[in-house]
Parts: sequence; C-alpha cells; structure tokens
Amino acid sequence: MNGYSGMFITFEGPDGSGKTTQIARVAEELARQGFPVMATREPGGTAISDKIRSIILDPENGEMADRTEVLLYAASRAQHVEEKILPALREGRIVLCDRFVDASMAYQAYGLGLSAEAVAAINRFATGGLVPDRTYLIDVPVAVTQERLAARAARHPALGLDRIEQKDAGYHGRVRESFQAIAAAEPERIRIVRGDRPPDEVFAELSGNCLSLLAKRVKR
Ligand code: TMP
Repeated sequence: MNGYSGMFITFEGPDGSGKTTQIARVAEELARQGFPVMATREPGGTAISDKIRSIILDPENGEMADRTEVLLYAASRAQHVEEKILPALREGRIVLCDRFVDASMAYQAYGLGLSAEAVAAINRFATGGLVPDRTYLIDVPVAVTQERLAARAARHPALGLDRIEQKDAGYHGRVRESFQAIAAAEPERIRIVRGDRPPDEVFAELSGNCLSLLAKRVKR
C-alpha cells in the first residue's frame, strides 16, 4: 500500500501500445461503477508539468543532453505528485496515471544507457518514494508499434512524431526489453497485459483486473 487511503494505478508500455485509449475506457468504467476515479498522465498532469512536457517532446530540441532529459521528466513528475497525485490519494481517490517512474527507468536509464541507480535515486527524490499499488504494462512487439505510429502519422500529418517517438527501432526495442525486465523483477506490482490483441479484449482484462483489485481494497 502507498500509505494513503486511495489507490495508485499506473499504465506503462511502448509508444503506440494503445494505453491512452485504454486508460480513458477503464476510468469511464470505474466511474460508472461508482468509484471516485481520477485519470492523469506523465509527463504532464499540471500546468507546470505540461510546460515541461512541451520542452521535452519538442522535436526542435534535438540537442537536449541525456541528463537534462532525465531531470526534466523528474521535475515534471515532482510537480505532478505534489500538486495532483498526493492530494487525490489523500482524498481516497483511485488515481489512474498514464506512465510514471518505470518509464524513466525504461526510456532514460536503459534506453539511453544511463546509470539505473542514478535515475532511480533522482526519481525517489522527485516522488518522495511514492510507488504505484499496481502497474499494468501493455506489451506490444516493436514492429507492431512502429506500424501503428506510422499509420497515426499518415492519418494526422500535422501531429507528426514527437522527439522520443522519432528515435529508431533499436532504441524502442531496448525500451520494450527493459519494461519486460522491470516487470519480471516486480511481479507482485506489475502485470503484463498483451496489447497486440483487439482493443476490447485488452480492455476486458484491464478493467476486470482493476475491479478485482479494488474489490479487495477500496470501499465504494
Ligand atoms: P506519452 O506518449 O505516453 O504521452 O509519453 C510521451 C513520451 O515520453 C513517450 O515517448 C514516452 C516518454 N517518456 C519517457 O521517456 N520518460 C518518462 O519518464 C515518461 C513519463 C515518458
């Protein structure tokens, strides 16, 4: 448990895993069933965090140093935890968060080849040690996510790909492998959900698992 009356549930997965759509559906389902739910995302979730997000993801910031990237994600996260996540957990809400510290471990520590201890320590400082009660890793092979991202870019040319999405398939392959390694190291917290299936099946597994977790731990 996180020490608060609410529950903190995070969703991770590669770009193009479909998690953002799934989180919206799970949030809607939990709200429909009467749970006090709040959905939020990283990087972002507050005005300051969203400003940091736009700096991080801007394709024009190609010269960004790896350590700057780690610190900006952590800064955005610190504000998000303090301003939005902790108050909601104190109120007993169920917080569904699109990405959290595991993303920094996968994308920055392993993806960029930085010290995992350093990235973990920076994030412990940023979050005050907050750890999710449950994390869903929506796992999808890189070839599938690359195809989905290319299709999205073709559908919405103005959206294009952000600075992280533009990195090569080798980088995204490392990110996927590190998510799998992180999940294997913490099987109690992290549940792997296969994302290369029809979205309704993915939703059924996610919402079913969330509801059984909540039935055990939260009173409506
Ligand atoms: P999103 O696509 O889930 O909104 O996330 C934006 C990008 O930021 C995505 O490519 C994953 C990346 N990211 C990191 O590299 N490290 C982090 O700590 C987080 C939260 C996201």
